[in-house]
Amino acid sequence: MTETGTGNGTVTDTVADAFIEVDRVEKVFDVRRRTGFLKRERRQVRAVDALSFTVARGEMVGYIGPNGAGKSTTIKMLTGILTPSGGRLRVAGIDPARERTRLAHRIGVVFGQRTTLWWDLPLIDSYRLAHRMYRIPDARYRENLDRLVELLDLGALLDVPVRQLSLGQRMRGDIAAALLHDPEVLYLDEPTIGLDVVSKARVREFLRGLRDERGTTVLLTTHDLQDIEQLCSRVMVIDHGRLMYDGPLAGLHEAGESERTLVLDLERELPPVDAPPPARVVRVEGPRQWLAFPASASAAPLVARLAAEYPLVDLSVREPDIEAVIARMYEERASA
Ligand SMILES: Nc1ncnc2c1ncn2[C@@H]1O[C@H](COP(=O)(O)OP(=O)(O)O)[C@@H](O)[C@H]1O
Ligand SMILES: [Mg+2]
Repeated sequence: MTETGTGNGTVTDTVADAFIEVDRVEKVFDVRRRTGFLKRERRQVRAVDALSFTVARGEMVGYIGPNGAGKSTTIKMLTGILTPSGGRLRVAGIDPARERTRLAHRIGVVFGQRTTLWWDLPLIDSYRLAHRMYRIPDARYRENLDRLVELLDLGALLDVPVRQLSLGQRMRGDIAAALLHDPEVLYLDEPTIGLDVVSKARVREFLRGLRDERGTTVLLTTHDLQDIEQLCSRVMVIDHGRLMYDGPLAGLHEAGESERTLVLDLERELPPVDAPPPARVVRVEGPRQWLAFPASASAAPLVARLAAEYPLVDLSVREPDIEAVIARMYEERASA
């Protein structure tokens, strides 16, 4: 699939290794709103605007942006659920909107906010359905099910009705459902939203294995920069339907000069601690102090030094949120 114009006369991918191709894609929604008695207003929302990118086979790319940026709309177009208003889309050489069923056999999708599992049925029933729907060969199904049940720790949950699962359990169940048919590409739309720390760590660990061992192409939408930090070497930022940034995560931090926050709980109220620059105290409230430091730096040396010099009771590190990073990107551009 990486050659252009092979000897047998067929033209395969135009861009070598481009598994997902998005070329000047647009999506405009017509929104009708009632504004009064017999009065309606028609408005157009440009959810995705001249969006272009490619993703190579085996890449795991983070797709981030504020609420309403157009992330879910992009994913829905890449699965064929929505038809673009303009531009060109290809996934594994397939036009998603025109050949949605054929594409379905090659992709998996997880929407964190909505389950694809059968709510009232035991988890295993959703998998049996996928087995038949995707016509997965029996041996392959059993092998994949065993592997996913083990990796995602679903053994005790298979006979539990989906509605009784916790959010984290349900999410793991959804991820397994999306992978039973061995898709070459997996779209994850906010797979860690609302999960507790332990569940998040489990999902991330599983995705890391997927990336390292199976070479699945993954597009990961998330609000959590830690997801990206731990999984993706490349990140794309979208805002108002437009691509704002496409590159390594480190570059995003530079572009936005984002900072993390170290929250210190001291034994007692103290004057602002003496932190090595560029780290600095930004807030003090009783025995609690907040320090800002560059997101690209490790917290470990800072923590070690403060722990040696001050009576620490507890501490935590807060990640920069995506909105803050993007806001700073705009500021940098405006002043450039
Ligand atoms: N079915 C729809 N009809 C009308 N507007 C929509 C529809 N789906 C999304 N939108 C609008 O498109 C924009 C992008 O939405 P979405 O892709 O869901 O953003 P994100 O996933 O980044 O939060 C928002 O302004 C949203 O209100
Ligand atoms: Mg969304």
